[in-house]
Amino acid sequence: MKENLLTSLESLQTELQTVLKSVDDPQNLQETRVLFLGKKGKLTQILKGLGKLDPKDRPEVGAKANEIKQSLEEKLTEAEQRVQAQVYEKQIAQDTFDITLPGRPVTRGHIHPLTQIYDLTSSIFEKMGFQTHTGPEIEDDYHNFEALNIPVDHPARDLQDTFYLPGLKWLLRTHTSTVQIHVMEQNQPPIRMIAPGVVYRADSDVTHTPMFHQIEGLWIDEKTTFADLKGVLTLFIQQIFDEETQVRFRPSYFPFTEPSAELDISCVFCKSLKKDCVICKGTGWLEILGCGMVDPAVFKSVGYDAEKYTGFAFGIGLERLAMLKFGINDLRLFFENDHRFLSQF
Ligand code: DAH
Repeated sequence: MKENLLTSLESLQTELQTVLKSVDDPQNLQETRVLFLGKKGKLTQILKGLGKLDPKDRPEVGAKANEIKQSLEEKLTEAEQRVQAQVYEKQIAQDTFDITLPGRPVTRGHIHPLTQIYDLTSSIFEKMGFQTHTGPEIEDDYHNFEALNIPVDHPARDLQDTFYLPGLKWLLRTHTSTVQIHVMEQNQPPIRMIAPGVVYRADSDVTHTPMFHQIEGLWIDEKTTFADLKGVLTLFIQQIFDEETQVRFRPSYFPFTEPSAELDISCVFCKSLKKDCVICKGTGWLEILGCGMVDPAVFKSVGYDAEKYTGFAFGIGLERLAMLKFGINDLRLFFENDHRFLSQF
C-alpha cells in the first residue's frame, strides 16, 4: 500500500515533465496546473489514499508528498517563465516598427516676456536692498486715492478711468501706488520696497489694455534726496538696457510726489536723434516711468513725521518696459498668448 503510494507520487513528476514538454501557451499551462495541483487534481487524488494507510507509515508518505508537491510547483513555475518569454518574443517579432520614421518633436515652453522683464527688474532692485511686497487688487477709495493725496473731486482722478464696484466704495486698483500706503501703515521707516502687480483702467485701444502691470518703488529714510532717486533709477535703466543709455528727468505732476518727474531714456532703437525713428518720433527720447519725492501729505496719511523723514517713489509700466526692451510694437500681443509670438522670447 505504502509502496504503491510512493511510486504514484514519484511518477507524478515524470508525468508532469512529459506533459509540460508539449505545453506552449499560458492557458494550457494553467489547465495543467489545475490538473496536477488543483483541488481535484492528481496529487489530491493520490493523497486520498493516505487515510487508509497504516498510521506509522503516514509521516514518511506525507513528507514525500510535500517534497513532490514542491517539485511540481517548481517545474510549473519554470514552465510559466518559459511560456511567458515565448509570448513576449512572439509579440516583439510581430510588432515591427519603422525606426526611420521621424520622431515627435518635444515643444519647449517659453517664459512670457512680461515675466522675464519682471524677473530682471526685481532682481536689479533686490540687489539694491529693495524688498518685495504685494497688495490687494480690489481696493477701497482711501488706499487708491485719498491717502495718496487725491481727494474726492480732485481733477487728478480723471487721469485714471476707474472700474468701480457697485456701491462705489470698492474699485479695481488703478495703480500699484496703493501698496505704498499698505506698507507704510504697517511698518516704520526705513523702508525700501518694490511692489509688482496687476492694475486696471477702463481703457482699451492699440496702446492701452484694461489690465496691465506695474512695479512700484518706495525708499524712505531720514536723509533720502532727489540725488538718491536719480542714482537708483539711472542704475536701474542702465542695467535693463545698457550703460550707454542716457536718462533725463523731466518735471511732471503726480499728486503723491513733490517734486515729480517723468524719466525719459535716450531712444534704444535709433540710439541718437534720427528724424525718421517711429519709436521716439524723432525726439531721441522715450518716456519710461514716473517718479518723485514723496509728498508730505502722504506721510501725514500714514502718520509719519514729515519733518524727520523724506523719501522717493516711482512707478514703472512693465508692458512699456518690455516693449522697448524686446522691440514689441503692439501691446495686445502680450495678452493674446499666441505661441508664434511667445516662442520668440
Ligand atoms: N501711480 C502712477 C501711475 O499709475 C505712477 C507713479 C508715478 C508712481 C510717480 C509713483 C510715482 O510712485 O512716484 O500713473
